[in-house]
Amino acid sequence: MRGILLAGGNGSRLWPLTRALSKQLMPVFDKPMIYYPLTTLVMAGIREILVITTPDNADQFRRLLGDGTQWGLCLRYATQPHPGGIAQALLIGEEFLAGESVALALGDNILHGAGLGRHLRTHVAVSGAHVFAYPVANPAAYGVITLDDAGQPLAIEEKPANPRSRHAVTGLYFYDSSAVKIARHLRPSARGELEITAVNQEYLRRGELRVSVLGRGTAWLDTGTFTDLVHASEYVRVVEDRQGQKIGCVEEAAWRAGLIDDAQLRALADPLRASGYGDYLLRLLTEPRPAPVTVGNRGTP
Ligand code: DAU
Repeated sequence: MRGILLAGGNGSRLWPLTRALSKQLMPVFDKPMIYYPLTTLVMAGIREILVITTPDNADQFRRLLGDGTQWGLCLRYATQPHPGGIAQALLIGEEFLAGESVALALGDNILHGAGLGRHLRTHVAVSGAHVFAYPVANPAAYGVITLDDAGQPLAIEEKPANPRSRHAVTGLYFYDSSAVKIARHLRPSARGELEITAVNQEYLRRGELRVSVLGRGTAWLDTGTFTDLVHASEYVRVVEDRQGQKIGCVEEAAWRAGLIDDAQLRALADPLRASGYGDYLLRLLTEPRPAPVTVGNRGTP
């Protein structure tokens, strides 16, 4: 499975903050926003990832993330000239995907919770589509999925005025190789976008949409408004300060997944020491290591 990390859009809901800077490069406490969904993909076992940005911001992302080899990853880049919808990422990424299945992650979504990596890895061998739902207080702001008593999806709607359920669809989508073809047949919605919800609706129509509901032990944080952004930073700060463990630390996730070794982690830590981030990475090397959860894996961050 290959990954697509979508980090375009004009971020207008955060203007003037994001007028000159990409939303997905905004700080969420101690790291840029995009580190979080990138870490989620690494934890899911994805190694080859296409990062889609606006043309204006492409250089900044390259400077931050490079070609990914420092983390044992293979990062490629593409641009989306105008925000034509999340599903457009599948068309932009068609060549990169080369007929493989895809994990599409939104660059502004933060997922955190015990056992999350393990949970995601059980769904990467996807046939059809697999999406992750999360109960929220304000479902009308999201894609909303209605489930029957057995947890099977009945309907999925984009930002419904009167939501039929509290289950929002999070910004992480696992699709088999049909997704590109489905996206190719989409027409722009009333707001002029190729809607990811329309892709999910097509999988549902085919009887191929599966859903996991993320439980209370998982946090799904949004960064859509000024307040959401502050809340996300606060969440990360509180948990990191209390536990002494970082959230969304891509270096740690890569090391625990066995993509980089101790010497490589030490080399990554060195230039990051002034901020304390590097000291955190060095400390990992001195701590007892959890028993591997799967072969070649040093535990889930
Ligand atoms: O966060 C989950 C929600 O994401 C889902 O529940 C919704 O079904 C889905 O439509 C989406 O809703 P949003 O209103 O949050 O989408 P937004 O337009 O804010 O875009 C989400 C991210 O994707 C954002 O970081 C910008 C990026 N994006 C968006 C569009 C439309 C792009 O890079 N290109 C685009 O064309």
